[in-house]
Amino acid sequence: MSVAQRDTTPILALREVELRFVQPVDLAGRIANLLGAGLKTQVVHAVAGVDLEVKPGEVIGIVGESGCGKSTLGRIVSGILPPTAGQVHYRGKPVHDMTGQERRAYELGVQMIFQDPYASLNPRMRVREIIGEAPAAHGLIRSRDKEAYVAGLMRQVGLDPSFSQRYPHQFSGGQRQRIGIARALALKPSVIVCDEAVAALDVSIQAQVLNLFEKLRDDLDLTYLFISHNLSVVSHISDRVAIMYLGRVVELAPTDTVFTRANHPYTEALLKELPTLTPGRRTYQPIKGELPSPLDPPTGCAFHPRCPHAMPRCKAERPLLREIAPGQYSACHLNDLA
Ligand SMILES: Nc1ncnc2c1ncn2[C@@H]1O[C@H](COP(=O)(O)OP(=O)(O)OP(=O)(O)O)[C@@H](O)[C@H]1O
Ligand code: SF4
Ligand SMILES: [Mg+2]
Repeated sequence: MSVAQRDTTPILALREVELRFVQPVDLAGRIANLLGAGLKTQVVHAVAGVDLEVKPGEVIGIVGESGCGKSTLGRIVSGILPPTAGQVHYRGKPVHDMTGQERRAYELGVQMIFQDPYASLNPRMRVREIIGEAPAAHGLIRSRDKEAYVAGLMRQVGLDPSFSQRYPHQFSGGQRQRIGIARALALKPSVIVCDEAVAALDVSIQAQVLNLFEKLRDDLDLTYLFISHNLSVVSHISDRVAIMYLGRVVELAPTDTVFTRANHPYTEALLKELPTLTPGRRTYQPIKGELPSPLDPPTGCAFHPRCPHAMPRCKAERPLLREIAPGQYSACHLNDLA
């Protein structure tokens, strides 16, 4: 079924979602304050107002430099972190208001897969338990069916079920990520948030795991939020890409539009960072300057200190994300000049 033929209610909708981390002054800071240092509580605006609608069956890539808030956004969507402002809607209902069965359906329905499969798998548990424990505990399967259920999932992710008695350290990095995927699938989710899910793997293994994600999406009708700092990784799998900068989405567009008609100067800069495969030509151009601290973000457009097109207005006024062509959203004052 094509995305266009599906139910048009977004499976996920983020409405002005924000998350601020408050970092209290630590013991050393409190002692320094006794000596007059004047240190204050610091607030990191990790996600600073994100609106996003995800259709059932869609794959949205979330891309941006380290620290721009991708993982925090993923954790909010998965219900691991409650937003400090704004709302997440799942299947048309605000998650904040959900209780009982509805809340449980959301918590099972949205699963997260992490970058480092080794760190996220309990080293003392056998694969059989890692994959089968949660669905049994949630009553999705009966204990006596666990072995067959785990074997089916292992086959689905390309693992030999006869290894189900082994421990995580007995598998390769790629196999461990497959165990992590099977563990998420065991809860029969509709949405999977993949946070740098292939970043720790060798390039050849990355391609295999990305292919597995694509196959599972088709077979199981899954929706993905695919987080990566690498635009080319998400381009293989995503229908649309959201580019994040310092806690905000600065451009959102279909993947091919991002590659052929990027609008935002930050997206253009990310594209220039991608190494080309043309032999003998190295066109890699890193983005100038460093990502500013989210503790003290620049005024106006947060990208202005690094933007080659910055104008006086950019320092004073924050551009809003708006539709600049059908399906293409960008937050840049240059669009007002056209
Ligand atoms: N638990 C926390 N307490 C305080 N600040 C945090 C916490 N988690 C994240 N941050 C800060 O929030 C901001 C966003 O972090 P986040 O991990 O979401 O970024 P990211 O885009 O996933 O980065 P990376 O690509 O390195 O994974 C960063 O400045 C980070 O230091
Ligand atoms: S608003 Fe100004 S600083 Fe920001 S991306 Fe556009 S031109 Fe650059
Ligand atoms: Mg992260």
